[in-house]
Amino acid sequence: MTGYVLEARDLVQHYKVRRGLFGKVGLVKAVDGISLTLKPRQTLAVVGESGCGKSTLARMLTMIEQPTAGSLAIAGTEVVGADAATLKRLRRDVQMVFQNPYGSLNPRQTIGGALEEPLLVNTDLPAAERRAQAAEMLKRVGLRPEHYGRYPHMFSGGQRQRIAIARALMLRPKVLVLDEPVSALDLSVRAQVLNLLAELQRNFDLAYVFVSHDLSVVKHIADDVMVMYLGRVVERGPSATIFTAPQHPYTRALISATPVADPERRKERIILHGELPSPFNPPRGCTFNPRCPLAMDICRVQRPELEPKKGRDVACYAVTP
Ligand SMILES: Nc1ncnc2c1ncn2[C@@H]1O[C@H](COP(=O)(O)OP(=O)(O)OP(=O)(O)O)[C@@H](O)[C@H]1O
Ligand code: SF4
Ligand SMILES: [Mg+2]
Repeated sequence: MTGYVLEARDLVQHYKVRRGLFGKVGLVKAVDGISLTLKPRQTLAVVGESGCGKSTLARMLTMIEQPTAGSLAIAGTEVVGADAATLKRLRRDVQMVFQNPYGSLNPRQTIGGALEEPLLVNTDLPAAERRAQAAEMLKRVGLRPEHYGRYPHMFSGGQRQRIAIARALMLRPKVLVLDEPVSALDLSVRAQVLNLLAELQRNFDLAYVFVSHDLSVVKHIADDVMVMYLGRVVERGPSATIFTAPQHPYTRALISATPVADPERRKERIILHGELPSPFNPPRGCTFNPRCPLAMDICRVQRPELEPKKGRDVACYAVTP
């Protein structure tokens, strides 16, 4: 046993798309070879600009989408090639929480009904027991018993996200994949939901994959950070290491753009020039080279591999071991 609740190796997701009405069919390399491991109670933050493949990765980890290539193991059991019964069991172990809980809650279903539904579909528990477990979970996420019979529109954004988290926990998963879970919330509510997630992680021994385009959100909750650029990992390591001494020019630019509370520590902001290139036609060599202030000749022809340097993994020729 590896002790990993989640282990992904070289996950790839290539989408076939047609450019224009009569255009050629091409490939969007949304995720292009990502490996990661996760242990109980570990939080891995996945960060990067819009379009870098975060949600695509999240959909593969939660088995919503099959990878084009690569393998995925949940608590030591391989997903790819598993039979239907095994897949059904593994699906319970990894649950997803989306940015907009309104979209994932049925407006005509009471909160109690929404929480009981996963139990109804996946277990033989009698109605009274389902109801008791739903009521208990409401309490665990900071809602009150009288909320049980109410409908989604009767709640605030923060409360709805609590409900979505409660629903995701009903089958007692080992892993939650949270895709921008607090991005739609006000700052004060955001902090409350992050605190709740930290508490639930301890109580239920949960591992989190926390997807965010906003580094300031993940700074205090992530054990490890994985920075993505055009479907690949450019830097990955312990959160404290990445935040205090980022090495990849892309990570440095991202971190320099996050606000700091302490004016004494005001840092120089690195402005990235140019748009994120299309994953339909990524640049040759290091895909970051058109925007990189340090780009050298080799960067334009050969892709740097992710290698251990300076206490983290980084894919950049300019970083010395
Ligand atoms: N079903 C699909 N078919 C074709 N292309 C897709 C599909 N899903 C995603 N893509 C493309 O794959 C790339 C990665 O998309 P993805 O949604 O994973 O990015 P993201 O990092 O989650 O972005 P955001 O921060 O905006 O949510 C994008 O270029 C997107 O247009
Ligand atoms: S490999 Fe080259 S282009 Fe890519 S980030 Fe490093 S220095 Fe910049
Ligand atoms: Mg996304």
